Amino acid sequence: MSEPTPTVAARATGVSKVYGSGDSATTALDAIDLEIAAGSLTAIMGPSGSGKSTLMHVFAGLDSATRGRVTIGETDITHLDDTALTLLRRRSLGFVFQAFNLVPTLSVLGNVTLPFELDGRRPDAAELAWIRELLGRLGIGMLETRRPHELSGGQQQRVAIARAIAMRPQLVFADEPTGNLDSRSSREVLGLLRDLTREYRQTVVLVTHDPVAASHADRVVFIADGRVARDVGASSPKELSDIILSLEVAA
Ligand SMILES: Nc1ncnc2c1ncn2[C@@H]1O[C@H](COP(=O)(O)OP(=O)(O)O)[C@@H](O)[C@H]1O
Ligand SMILES: [Mg+2]
Repeated sequence: MSEPTPTVAARATGVSKVYGSGDSATTALDAIDLEIAAGSLTAIMGPSGSGKSTLMHVFAGLDSATRGRVTIGETDITHLDDTALTLLRRRSLGFVFQAFNLVPTLSVLGNVTLPFELDGRRPDAAELAWIRELLGRLGIGMLETRRPHELSGGQQQRVAIARAIAMRPQLVFADEPTGNLDSRSSREVLGLLRDLTREYRQTVVLVTHDPVAASHADRVVFIADGRVARDVGASSPKELSDIILSLEVAA
């Protein structure tokens, strides 16, 4: 028997997030309960402003919940001090957000190995081999020595994706990671994210507006007004489009 691994990679319990206060208060998340199964690819869908990005930020410890509790694996991050949270983020979590935040003075390889640098070490030979494989699979293998300004938007986005998964974090949060990619590149990125869950039992949470992208997921969670509006298993693009329509009609 293999050793037991946690079955829940992340959990939100009664999580609310309120921005501002008084008359200008905005409830971005409204008492969300959500468990993310380890080794799964979960897509998050929902209208603009429904709280998807806020949910990613709160799960990843980039923003704190106003109420409720967030756990990553066995760790309750709600009450972690900054140092412990930084270490957990650096070693266990990867993020791909809409802004790529590449370092302009570093090469592609320098940007992708930055997480190791920040952790005070260099990638070993096996890790470097993995990083090169990753760059190859993302179609940017021959761009290793280029600087971000020498890349297209789509190429920069793929560098950001490579950086987020270079350390093979247990849990990857990707907020519309294929927004700037053509359909072929976005299919490659989605295929890669799915392979991570299949081959390495990593857990991926992917925010997307694209029913085709979401159809690669094991589960699709629809957010509306900061709440879970629907929660379905693997579905076809057509089934997902129908759910989107039905939620728009109900709203
Ligand atoms: N930093 C912030 N300050 C104030 N309001 C915010 C902030 N971030 C998000 N919001 C508000 O919270 C709600 C949810 O936003 P967001 O999570 O970005 O939605 P989505 O990613 O689904 O488009 C929106 O009403 C948005 O305007
Ligand atoms: Mg968003």
